[in-house]
Order: sequence, then structure tokens, then C-alpha cells
Amino acid sequence: FIPPASGGAGGGTTAKDELGNSVKVSQFLSSHNVGDRTLVQGLKGDPTYIVVESKEAIADYGINAICTHLGCVVPWNVAENKFKCPCHGSQYDATGKVVRGPAPKSLALAHTTVNDDQIVLTPWTETDFRTGEAAWWS
Ligand code: FES
Repeated sequence: FIPPASGGAGGGTTAKDELGNSVKVSQFLSSHNVGDRTLVQGLKGDPTYIVVESKEAIADYGINAICTHLGCVVPWNVAENKFKCPCHGSQYDATGKVVRGPAPKSLALAHTTVNDDQIVLTPWTETDFRTGEAAWWS
């Protein structure tokens, strides 16, 4: 038995903005473009990208922004359609899959669901859909 994490519906964590307020999905979608990757505070407060998949929906996964090399927060580079770490040059594709080292692994994932106009993040323990391998972070 694993007790549910505190602080949200269904044992998840609601995504928070930089001020610590829960992100409203309706506002989030109306203020971002399709394809945007935007940081929120996710599980354990980790900086996590929410992906705008369409005008009506966010992707059902969030991407943990912490570089798997030495832990810098990796910015999204719109022009190159990649995440590029400013610290030592690691690169990740649009889903967070590592495409250039020194980072040894892809960025961690979290599940995202929408509940009552809030984004709820829950741990991703299944296979990593980008690599077909086990989730190294769980
Ligand atoms: Fe990102 Fe080193 S911390 S490349």
C-alpha cells in the first residue's frame, strides 16, 4: 500500500505558477500558443513544462526541466524546437528525449490530467514512451 501524496485531487499535485497559485487551464490555453512549453511548479515543486497540444488541450504528459547531467533548469528553444541546457550544452527534443550529451538520460516525465480547470500532475512510473525503456526516475 502506498499512501496518496498530499495536496491535490486524486493524490496528485496541482500545477502552480511562479507565485504559487494553481494554474487555471482555461486561462493557460487562452494565453499560450499551440506548441508552447511553459514552466510550472510540478511534483515536489520541480520545474515542469506543460505542453500546449491544441487550442483546447494540454498534452497528457509534463516534462521535468531539470537537466539529467548536473541539474540545471533547461530552457525551451522555440526556434530550434529543442530544449538546450545552458550549462554544458546538452540537448533534448520537443518531448524531452535526450539527443545530445553530456546528459546521460532523457528528461523525466509526469502525467498530467485536468480536473476542475486545474492541471493535476501525478508520478509517471510506466514505460518511457520516448525510449520504450523503464522510467529511470521512478
Ligand atoms: Fe545540463 Fe550539464 S547540467 S548539460
